[in-house]
Amino acid sequence: MTNQPDEATRLIRRILRVNHAGEHGAVSIYQAQLRGLNKADGELGAWLNETLDHELRHRTAFQDAMPQRGAKPCRALVIWKSGGSLLGWLSSAFGRVGVLVCTQAVEETVHRHLLEQISFLDRADPELADIVRDILKEEVDHLVYARDRLPQRSLVLRMARALVSLATETLIAISTRGDSFRLRHDLKDAA
Ligand SMILES: [Fe+2]
Ligand SMILES: [Fe+2]
Repeated sequence: MTNQPDEATRLIRRILRVNHAGEHGAVSIYQAQLRGLNKADGELGAWLNETLDHELRHRTAFQDAMPQRGAKPCRALVIWKSGGSLLGWLSSAFGRVGVLVCTQAVEETVHRHLLEQISFLDRADPELADIVRDILKEEVDHLVYARDRLPQRSLVLRMARALVSLATETLIAISTRGDSFRLRHDLKDAA
């Protein structure tokens, strides 16, 4: 007789851990951008404040979902916080465009990760699937806000977005010690 959790339970815990950590990073990015921009841009400042509220709520939602599923927060939260702060600070040094490029790239990455989880969660944990789906709606709003305000064909901005996406994926991979890649693979296997 073994008390080992089954494969689905382990996957759910890993999903929660990486999602919670990701929201932790998002909170740090938007906080750093607000500090860096010094609220110089009225409309963007208001939007950043509203978005920060969303990210705080997302982080709480994943944190609250952890205990009943036996999940624990990522031990490398400090990496997410410092990486997010650095990304937010660097992007805000380029002003409004820098903030929007960072938002589009990060939210595209978040969006991709959450979409990969939905079909598995629909079967394994419908309650968590609904939480992810609700959060995904707001992440899409964040993505669309930035995308609609940037010239999508500009080569320089496309390169900047690719760079931020790479930095985000690298941060996720380092802080999960590669589990983000294995999780993607395991979710495909579980589909
Ligand atoms: Fe979020
Ligand atoms: Fe977001």
